[in-house]
Amino acid sequence: MVEAFKVIGGKNIGGVLKVEGSKNAALPIMIATLVEKGTYVLKNVPNLMDIRTLVKLLESLGLQIERLDENTYKIENNGLTNLVAGYELVKKMRASFLVMGPMLAHSKKAKVSLPGGCAIGARPVDLHLKGFEALGTKITIDHGYVEAETEELKGAKIVLDFPSVGATENIIMAAVKANGTTVLENAAREPEIEDLCNFFNEMGAKITGIGTGTLVIEGVEKLNPCEYTIIPDRIVAGTFVIASIIFDGKIEVEGVRREHLEAFLMKLEEMGVKYEIEGERLRVLSKLEDLQGAKVTTMPYPGFPTDLQSPIMTLMCLAKGSSELKETIFENRFMHVPELNRMGAKIDINGNIATIKGIDNFSSAEVMASDLRAGASLILAALKAEGESVVNRIYHVDRGYENLELRLKNIGANIERIKAEI
Ligand code: UD1
Repeated sequence: MVEAFKVIGGKNIGGVLKVEGSKNAALPIMIATLVEKGTYVLKNVPNLMDIRTLVKLLESLGLQIERLDENTYKIENNGLTNLVAGYELVKKMRASFLVMGPMLAHSKKAKVSLPGGCAIGARPVDLHLKGFEALGTKITIDHGYVEAETEELKGAKIVLDFPSVGATENIIMAAVKANGTTVLENAAREPEIEDLCNFFNEMGAKITGIGTGTLVIEGVEKLNPCEYTIIPDRIVAGTFVIASIIFDGKIEVEGVRREHLEAFLMKLEEMGVKYEIEGERLRVLSKLEDLQGAKVTTMPYPGFPTDLQSPIMTLMCLAKGSSELKETIFENRFMHVPELNRMGAKIDINGNIATIKGIDNFSSAEVMASDLRAGASLILAALKAEGESVVNRIYHVDRGYENLELRLKNIGANIERIKAEI
């Protein structure tokens, strides 16, 4: 039986929402423990379905994983006992493909299922594979699996066609112990990549250019496993800040790192939002009625993040005048639009541009989450709408927001997890 959220909206909610550790930093860092034998302790790992899926995958490869408390994992790498990452686990989560780089670094060999849904040899992992080939790996694609083998990983110069987050991470993980120096140009610059590089350097890797588009990775013989704390999740932070604006600043958000959210915060300022940040706590000082429309284009970091595109669309619906959102990273990322329109939004789509006309409020309705961030945008709308809404398929939301309904309940929201038909 699948689950849904029943939300009775329009209630005044207020209190503190604390941001959990970053899912997109925790996943590659947990995967990076495949590279070197030893014992690791990872802290501030979010309690999410995606993390549990990854734990199963890493265990299937031979790692021993113990959960010390809700957000702390002890990972022991005593060598890999299996070099095949099977379809059953990889299809559940695209990020699973990141095991290929570290398996190559550890064992010179890996066989990983292509992520679900994509045709063999098609675009979605081509940049990862080109990177491995440049490092001296032979790649074959057969029966839905990518097989990679190398006699020795050798440092190389690699220029990415596009700053793909996943390809950058996979190449870093293959290159840290390669023979020689890898120069990765047009690398993605997301804070989650910085976190992965910092984790490796903590273990004795030699990565420079961190936070820039050119990473220089000098291969080392040996790494020394360590204890590491994951950064807070900037996308969850952004979602909570939007909730705060919708509720006139009555929600405070703890765990906001300004330097990770510059493009987002600048856009909010342009929309008329006033806020203050003390340490990592953000308080919104303006009212929802002060909000003006704006134009946003999603871009690789440090541009406006695609993962905040759907949450900010909910906010734009409640702004005065009209707004425009252009999605340049993913082709099919407006699936929440018809659902928001069922809740009274006035959004038109033309290609990769959505035009949003401001409305006074959403009207409650039964809707369906099509992906993780779409789910967040619908929950935000349901919290604001008067009356009862049902958001279906919340397994998507469970992949990326830790204990969301409990945390919203704690600040006075009327939200409940229910059994659903669809
Ligand atoms: C990561 C994030 C995801 C975020 C995305 C963009 C994780 C676990 N997920 O996903 O939340 O939305 O970054 O910020 O960190 N592409 C190719 N060939 C490739 C790789 C990617 O064409 O080899 C294309 C993709 O189809 C997509 C675009 O590049 O259109 C962005 O993908 P990428 O940056 O790789 O995102 P992910 O790492 O999958």
